[in-house]
Amino acid sequence: MRRFPDGFTWGVATSAFQIEGAALSDGKGPSIWDAFCTIPGRVENGDRPDTAADHYAHYKEDVAIISELGFTAYRFSIAWSRLLPEGKGAVNEAGIRFYSNLIDELLAAGIEPWVTLYHWDLPLALQLGHDGWLNPRMADYYLEYADLCFRHFGDRVKNWITFNEPWVTGILGHGQGVFAPGRVSNSEPYIAGHNQLLAHARVVERYRTKYGRQGGRIGITNNCDWREPLSDSQEDRDAAERALQFFLGWFADPIWLGDYPEVMVQRLGERLPAFTPEEKALLKGSADFLGLNHYTTMYAAQAHGPVMSGSVFGNGGLSEDQDVQLSVSPDWKLTTLKWAVAPWGCGKLLHWIAARYGNPPIYITENGATFPEEHRDGKIEDPERTAFFQAYLSECRQAVAEGVNLRGYFAWCLLDTFEWTWGYNQKFGLVHVDFETRKRTPKASAWWFKKAIAANSADVDPESAID
Ligand code: GAL
Repeated sequence: MRRFPDGFTWGVATSAFQIEGAALSDGKGPSIWDAFCTIPGRVENGDRPDTAADHYAHYKEDVAIISELGFTAYRFSIAWSRLLPEGKGAVNEAGIRFYSNLIDELLAAGIEPWVTLYHWDLPLALQLGHDGWLNPRMADYYLEYADLCFRHFGDRVKNWITFNEPWVTGILGHGQGVFAPGRVSNSEPYIAGHNQLLAHARVVERYRTKYGRQGGRIGITNNCDWREPLSDSQEDRDAAERALQFFLGWFADPIWLGDYPEVMVQRLGERLPAFTPEEKALLKGSADFLGLNHYTTMYAAQAHGPVMSGSVFGNGGLSEDQDVQLSVSPDWKLTTLKWAVAPWGCGKLLHWIAARYGNPPIYITENGATFPEEHRDGKIEDPERTAFFQAYLSECRQAVAEGVNLRGYFAWCLLDTFEWTWGYNQKFGLVHVDFETRKRTPKASAWWFKKAIAANSADVDPESAID
């Protein structure tokens, strides 16, 4: 059996908006996602996020499940508007108590808390009254909120993630408008991205200067899929490289290399804000680890003519910025979200990151898949999900053997979630949730994880995990 190095982090992840429920109770204020989901047609089947898995009431049971499965770390996010209902100012003590209790429960079970400060759920008041991430002043409010978190939880939380996938807030939230706050523009994504990067850097500086004695680490989570050149031609290879720089480079280059990728600066012109020398200095080195959310792979080719991106033509100019045509091979297996299963892409991406950024400590902070599952005699069989995890973890193990500084892996997701605009239709959970009764049932893939974690290896036969 090929094992992971000792001390490898085996984690599982969630986010507040997708599992907590109690959307507007116990003093929580609304977020942009609470508002977005009330717009007719935005969420499949008109599903409502208000209760979801009701983790707010079931957190003890959920921690017991994480512990039973053997995970050594749990990544969750704090809902900003549960602590600060208006985004700033008055504090909701019930919110502080909830996260404090959750953290204590995790520590008592020997599970390391990994806390994401911002997983897309901006307090609605900051959007309506202050334009959200389009306003550079958002960094001031974010700093106030982050400081509150460090002050209350930093004695016990030693792993912090500033932002989850600022790319999504930029492109899906301010470019295509399919995610909250639902804005459509070909320049706002770059402004929202810029303001998040600067907010990240200021929070990291605050943590290191004022809370350094807490002895924790702080980083950022970015999403990136692999882009494989469609052909060996130089123009397709350039297109794939460009796509990666527009995807991960956008947010990782300023932090590890000190500025935006040159190709973005050249192609975007004035639509890409510039950093001052002081801002560059603040950004460079502002992460102790690189968090990566990775789900899939696509082919990339030089575009000739209008660019098709997903179901959207032209994409408001965003795709034209890159001049990259994406596609998948008809031979690749697809998840129910139509995301290609291509574990080798994960290995290639890990090597790309190691090469570009000087082999930083990497944590995969999300990886997972939606597949159909079968309920049989009270058990839930999801062999394709297990095969997915096994294949991706094998690639990770191989990358570690080849020298990539990958320190840990978090499966997405602990529970079946409110999966953003897909509502309850798409199931990522290792643990099934009955959304009528809130009953939790670990799926076969969860039991496979238990054996894999115990063996510190992905080479565990899925059959042996089914009792
Ligand atoms: C990520 C996101 C998660 C989850 C996942 C699967 O982009 O961080 O919240 O939704 O995708 O769709």
